Amino acid sequence: MTTPTPTVNPAAIAHPPLPGGLPDPATLARLANEFFSSLPGGATPGVATPGVATPGVSAGSGAVGGVPSALPAAAPILASVCNPAPAGSPLAGPGGTGTGVPGFAPPQGKVAGLNLAPSAPTHVLSLGNRAPALAPHAAAANGLPDQAVSIAPALEPRAGGALLGVPQAHDAASAAPVPASPSPFYFLHGAQNGWQGQAQDIGVPAHGLASPQAFGLPGDDTLRDLVSFEQRDAGVPGTNARYFIDDREAAVPHGLKSSAHPLFDVNAVRRDFPILQERVNGKPLIWFDNAATTHKPQAVIDRLAYFYAHENSNIHRAAHALAARATDAYEHARKTVQRFINASSPDEIVFVRGTTEAINLVAKSWGAQNVGEGDEIIVSHLEHHANIVPWQQLAAQKGARLRVIPVDDSGQVLLDEYRKLLNDRTKIVSVTQVSNALGTVVPVREIVELAHRAGAKALVDGAQSISHMRVDVQALDADFFVFSGHKIYGPTGIGVVYGKREVLDDMPPWQGGGNMIEDVTFERTVFHGPPARFEAGTGNIADAVGLGAALDYVNRIGIENIARYEHDLLAYATSVLAPVPGVRLVGTARDKASVLSFVLKGYTTAEVGQALSEEGIAVRAGHHCAQPILRRFGLEASVRPSLAFYNTCDEVDALVAVVRRLVSRR
Ligand code: ALA
Repeated sequence: MTTPTPTVNPAAIAHPPLPGGLPDPATLARLANEFFSSLPGGATPGVATPGVATPGVSAGSGAVGGVPSALPAAAPILASVCNPAPAGSPLAGPGGTGTGVPGFAPPQGKVAGLNLAPSAPTHVLSLGNRAPALAPHAAAANGLPDQAVSIAPALEPRAGGALLGVPQAHDAASAAPVPASPSPFYFLHGAQNGWQGQAQDIGVPAHGLASPQAFGLPGDDTLRDLVSFEQRDAGVPGTNARYFIDDREAAVPHGLKSSAHPLFDVNAVRRDFPILQERVNGKPLIWFDNAATTHKPQAVIDRLAYFYAHENSNIHRAAHALAARATDAYEHARKTVQRFINASSPDEIVFVRGTTEAINLVAKSWGAQNVGEGDEIIVSHLEHHANIVPWQQLAAQKGARLRVIPVDDSGQVLLDEYRKLLNDRTKIVSVTQVSNALGTVVPVREIVELAHRAGAKALVDGAQSISHMRVDVQALDADFFVFSGHKIYGPTGIGVVYGKREVLDDMPPWQGGGNMIEDVTFERTVFHGPPARFEAGTGNIADAVGLGAALDYVNRIGIENIARYEHDLLAYATSVLAPVPGVRLVGTARDKASVLSFVLKGYTTAEVGQALSEEGIAVRAGHHCAQPILRRFGLEASVRPSLAFYNTCDEVDALVAVVRRLVSRR
C-alpha cells in the first residue's frame, strides 16, 4: 500500500511534490488564482480566512478548544473542509460562499439540516464556474448546474456526454476513425463498442493525483504563460508574493499552514449524487451510513442504464454482437479494477458478489486445500463477522485453531502480541485494513510482512478501506485483497477477490458449473485457469461494469484528494462530537478513517439513531456485524456515523446539534 493513508494525523495533510514533473494541484491552484486575479476587474486573491469559517466553527479557537488532548487537533482541517472561500475570491461563488453554483447564494445561517448547498470551499477544478469566458458546458441530468469538474468547452477534448458520464451516441459520420484492433472476445471491433471507456480518455497518473489536463483544465505551463504579464506588471518577477498559495500561507495562522493543499469542491461532488437531493421526514437527507453502503454517482447510474439499453447479454458465450459488447464491457471492468488496485494482471481479479463471498471463496478453496488439523488461522479482534465466520467454519471442519490479535484501548492492534501468535503452524493471517465498527486503520503492510516471514499467507479485507485510501496490492504484497463494489460508489452484488497469480493458479474451484470449464465429459472436467475458474455460472455482469464506472469516477476526483478531504472532515467531526457531555467515542486510534462510533449516556443506540433519522440523518445503530470488538469495549451496540467525501461540516454540525438536543433533555 502506498501513502498517504487518511489517518487523523494532521502531519499527513502535507503533500510532497508530484513525481515526473506533473503539475502539482497546489501549484495549479496558485497559478489559476494568479490568472483569474489578472482578469479585468479581477478579484482579490483568495485566502481561506479563518474568520469566515462555517457557522458553528470558530476557526482557530472554538473548534479546537475543549478537545481532549488525546484527540487529533482540529485546527488544520478548517481551511480545507469548513472555510468557504471569501467573497470576491475567484474561488467563491457569487455569494462569496464557494458553492460553485453561479447565481446562487445560499443562506449562511446555521439551520441544522437545511444545508442543501452547504458552505464549503470550491476547489480550483471548478474555476470555470466563475469565469464567463469559461462558462460550464452543460447542465447535469438532475437539473443542477455543472458536474464535479467544470470544463471549459474550448479545453475539453472529449464529448460533453462522456464527461458527464452519459453514453456517447453512435455517430458514424462524426466519430473519429477507430483502429481496427480486434476485440479480445469474438468479432467486435472498438468502433462497435457502445460505451467508450473513460479511464483511457483521462490521464490519471498511477499515483492517483489527476493532472489538470485530465480535467480539461490548462496545465501548469499554460497558466504560467497566461499570468506572466501580470507578474511583470507587478514588478515581482519570479515571486508569487501576491498570489493565492503564498498569500494564504502568509495570512493563515501558524496552526493552519499544514492544510495548504488543493481545495476540494464538495458541493460539486454532491451534485454528482442525485440521491443527496432526497428529503427524509421533510428534511434534506444526510447520509452518514457510508460504512454500510455508499451512494452512486450519476455516472454509475447512467452506465448501468446504458448496459441494459445497449449491451445486455450473457458473456463469454454466443457469437452475436450483444454477447461481444457485454463481454468486452465486463472484461474492461476487470482491467479497470486491476489498474485501480495495481494488480499485475487482470487474471488476478475475480468477480464475486461482495467481500463476504470473497472471503468465503478463499476459505473454501485455498483454505480447504492448505489448512489441516492443528494448523492455525490468525484474525484480529477488529474483524467483521465476514472475516471471522468462514475461518471458524474452516477451523471446525479441519480441526484447526482460530487465533486473535488483541487490540489496545484505542482500538489499534497490538503488533507485539501478533508477533507472539505467529509460528510454523500459522497458515493464513486475515485482517481488515480499516475497522468497520471503530474506523481504526490497521498497519496491514507490517502484518502481511510478518505473516510471510512466518511462512503464512495473508488476506487483507479492504471493504472499509478501498474508498478511503490508495490501495496498491503489489506494494502491500498481500496474497489476497478483497472488497465490495457498493462500498466504493458502485452497485451492490459485485465485489472482488484479488489473488496473486501463482496463488490462484494452485487453488481448486470452489463452485462448479458453466463458464469455469474448458471441457466436460461424464468422466472428468477440465477447468479454466483463473479468473474464470472461480466464476461459475452467469455472474453479475452489469454490476461489474457499473463498478468499473465507479472506479473511473473515483479516479477522476483522485483518491488522494478524497483521502485528504475525508481525513480533515473526520478530524473536524471528532473535535465537535467528543466534547458533548455524555458522549463516549468508541475507537480512538491515532490512525482512523471514516468512522465515528459513539454511545450517549442515558440513551440506547436505537433511540439516538431514531432521533437522528427524524432529522433526515442516516447512521447505523447496532453491532455493525462486529460483535467481538464492541464487546471488547463492554458494549453490545454503538451509534456509527461513517463519513464519505460528499459529506460536509454542516452535516456534521446537524448531527451534533441533535445529539446536544438529546443531552439537554436528560
Ligand atoms: N459491513 C457493513 C457495515 O459495516 C454492512 O455496516
